[in-house]
Amino acid sequence: MINKIKKILNKKDKSKIICLTAYSKNIASILDKHCDLVLVGDSLGSVLYNYKSTKEVTLEVMINHSKSVRQGVKKSLMIVDMPYNTYQNPKEALKNAKLIMKKTRCDGVKLEGGKKIISIVKTLVQNKIPVMGHLGILPQTEKKFTFKGKAKDEIKTLLNDAKLLEDAGIFSIVLECIETKLSKKITQQLRIPTIGIGSSSNCDGQVLVIDDLIGLSESKFRFVKKYTNISQIIDTAVKKYKFEVLKKQFPKAKHSFKK
Ligand code: KIV
Repeated sequence: MINKIKKILNKKDKSKIICLTAYSKNIASILDKHCDLVLVGDSLGSVLYNYKSTKEVTLEVMINHSKSVRQGVKKSLMIVDMPYNTYQNPKEALKNAKLIMKKTRCDGVKLEGGKKIISIVKTLVQNKIPVMGHLGILPQTEKKFTFKGKAKDEIKTLLNDAKLLEDAGIFSIVLECIETKLSKKITQQLRIPTIGIGSSSNCDGQVLVIDDLIGLSESKFRFVKKYTNISQIIDTAVKKYKFEVLKKQFPKAKHSFKK
């Protein structure tokens, strides 16, 4: 097991795990200073490409963005989402996961789902590919984007899926929009760390989409907190640039070349 994964595992019950998404080098290099784990999430489909769903994200797009992120991530664990329809059976999953690992030099992959993907997870783990799980709202296949863990049978399924995934060998799991008491139960039940998004502070770590955190997106999700308004900062800078160009205040001699 690689050291970076051991470090994440050792944080369970000791210190919260800090995780954010990144889709390109410049942002990734800032996050790398503060994060334990940087995720190249297929959320880039909606965040960057305005796709209606992450179903439209391709392997090629994930690989290209991950290559860029790799340039910025030096110390954190770097995990890449396997896009929709790229892990329908163990053989296909192994081929595509190997391709992602080879082309992007990431440290592991993340897959959405529970019981249905157990044989796939086992195959990847047996082939030494570190796997992160993802339960709760599963954006690649979700029909109803409401929080999970209301009905008794849903609670039972989620607890069971989490255990099955752990037994299959995942090193960590994202819990997306899982009810507070249930996220606590899952976190207590597992030896591996849980990373929450909209699943309360009961998880071992937290993840957010970076564009939401810095106020670059229009996201209105309940679980998002905007820590700054980068859109406004960019707006002010661009307005100033425009003004200075129009008034011939920029560029000055010091920005120009003379023989
Ligand atoms: O795609 C993504 O960015 C994710 C995180 C929000 C967990 O899966």
